[in-house]
Amino acid sequence: MSEADQSGDTRESLSATRDGTSAISARGITRDFEAGQTTIRVLHGIDADIKSGELTYVVGESGSGKTTLISIMCGILWPTDGEVEVFGTDIYALSDTELVNFRLNNIGFIFQQYNLIPSIDAAANAAVPLIAKGVGIDEARGKARELLEKLNIGDQADKLPNQLSGGQQQRVAIARALVHEPRLVVCDEPTAALDAKSGRRVMDLLRDVAVAEDRACIIVTHDNRIFDLADRILVLEDGRVTHDGTEMPDDH
Ligand SMILES: Nc1ncnc2c1ncn2[C@@H]1O[C@H](COP(=O)(O)OP(=O)(O)OP(=O)(O)O)[C@@H](O)[C@H]1O
Ligand SMILES: [Mg+2]
Repeated sequence: MSEADQSGDTRESLSATRDGTSAISARGITRDFEAGQTTIRVLHGIDADIKSGELTYVVGESGSGKTTLISIMCGILWPTDGEVEVFGTDIYALSDTELVNFRLNNIGFIFQQYNLIPSIDAAANAAVPLIAKGVGIDEARGKARELLEKLNIGDQADKLPNQLSGGQQQRVAIARALVHEPRLVVCDEPTAALDAKSGRRVMDLLRDVAVAEDRACIIVTHDNRIFDLADRILVLEDGRVTHDGTEMPDDH
């Protein structure tokens, strides 16, 4: 195995994706959850491609499987069945350590719950991926601060998460997802806690950082204030993709 493969960084070792432009190619994805004695199938054999250079939205009713699907697409939840290639790497064929490294080098995610570390300040929270990669603390905090400033919360950098509002915590989580400049950014409701102006600012930053020829961004959202910004929209209904196109379907 090459050094690049071992580090999980596919920047140099990028193999061809299935059709040459897919950042993510998901095939036959099913996911079951055990609930007491029964098994519930939440995703029913999903095929989907997320294109490089595009901002893709995943929309659908609560419980339709959006968080489950994007968690599988970014290597944090194993599918029951199916395959996921991210930038040409079959991520669930990697060992646990390789998968952790692959995520660290290629993927940033913003969870629906922000998952900030309560005992460290905002700048340190936003700097976590850089620190995990071995970047020195001062440099990592400096980069994190730059992003917090772009998100208009530079003055909150030294506060602990519980001293921040929900919208401020959300922006710290966004800074943390972007600080290591990942090729794939996956966001679960990134503007849900934000007013319209802050939401637009987040979307502008996501477009700047995450949408480029060899990058991609997936956003789960219910926020119709930002629907116009998507390049592609996937609609999920009861664990199936019912729409994949450049426009929002009329009934949404
Ligand atoms: N760990 C789990 N155990 C059992 N059932 C689960 C688990 N996680 C999710 N589910 C179920 O899977 C279905 C899809 O959940 P998911 O979180 O993917 O929905 P969602 O589309 O993200 O909804 P929302 O818009 O409310 O965030 C739901 O019915 C949910 O109850
Ligand atoms: Mg969800």
